[in-house]
Amino acid sequence: MKHLLSVTDLDAATATALLDTADRLKQALLGREVRKLPTLRGRTVITMFYENSTRTRVSFEIAGKWMSADTVNVSASGSSVSKGESLRDTSLTLSAMGADCVIVRHPASGSAHRMAAWADRDREMTGTHTSIVNAGDGTHEHPTQALLDAATLRDRLGSIAGRRIGIVGDVLHSRVARSNVLLLATLGAEVVVIAPPTLLPVGVAEWPCRVSPSLDAELPALDAVMMLRVQAERMHGSFFPSSREYAIGYGLSEARAALLPEHAVVLHPGPMVRGMEIAPAVADSPSSAVLAQVANGVHVRMAVLYHLLAGAPE
Ligand code: CP
Repeated sequence: MKHLLSVTDLDAATATALLDTADRLKQALLGREVRKLPTLRGRTVITMFYENSTRTRVSFEIAGKWMSADTVNVSASGSSVSKGESLRDTSLTLSAMGADCVIVRHPASGSAHRMAAWADRDREMTGTHTSIVNAGDGTHEHPTQALLDAATLRDRLGSIAGRRIGIVGDVLHSRVARSNVLLLATLGAEVVVIAPPTLLPVGVAEWPCRVSPSLDAELPALDAVMMLRVQAERMHGSFFPSSREYAIGYGLSEARAALLPEHAVVLHPGPMVRGMEIAPAVADSPSSAVLAQVANGVHVRMAVLYHLLAGAPE
């Protein structure tokens, strides 16, 4: 695998191998004084973010550093993108500087795929065959988020196959939802998408999941519930239902969380809008795996960099 652009790049065996690698890296690093592996010494990893991020960007940087790669962070606002430089020229420039891997977040769906096609085509011109990792492209996909969510579910539930996972809220604008539905189905889970009809994408009927309008009806039979962020920045002022209606219908209140089975896990990719998407007491409860998701993000992203830059997961 040269690039990671979509969870559809991963069959069950490859995804499982990546999760196993992340597990082994976690065990190797936890509790040790030495926090660095030499694996990617001499490799250059660049994060190029055209949208804001805390978790994805920082965890990729930590992942690279913990594997001894040279990591460089570029923000669109602080780069020549603000002077009008195109994505194409930015890609060529980073490859020509010797970037072994560019991790890109961009508001346009398909942008990471475009960069990967350019990297493949231009390798002789730039002298570098750069790997591209999709760190979120528009409303399309966020594959490493789905991998870290799968790692967290495996940790908490022991297995994913046969588990019933609910994904709740703004599915229409969520790249996290699409990547999770596809990856969890590949790993054998039964996925239920729970959302108001106004926040469902056209084509959701073709996704490998069941669709339900009622959170209350689904909660008692879920092994895990993944609350989504409401992406107000993609709604251009037309938020419907209102935030109050949303909280009443689809927020995970304490009363609603009590409907879940005792073993069920609560996930949220972050950043959370506490009080609307999830009650603070639920987000901070023992059922919540939100911080475990963040921690697993580093090990999963180490596994992805290892797989792309240092060979197969085995
Ligand atoms: N979950 C996620 O992508 O968070 P950030 O936007 O902070 O990276």
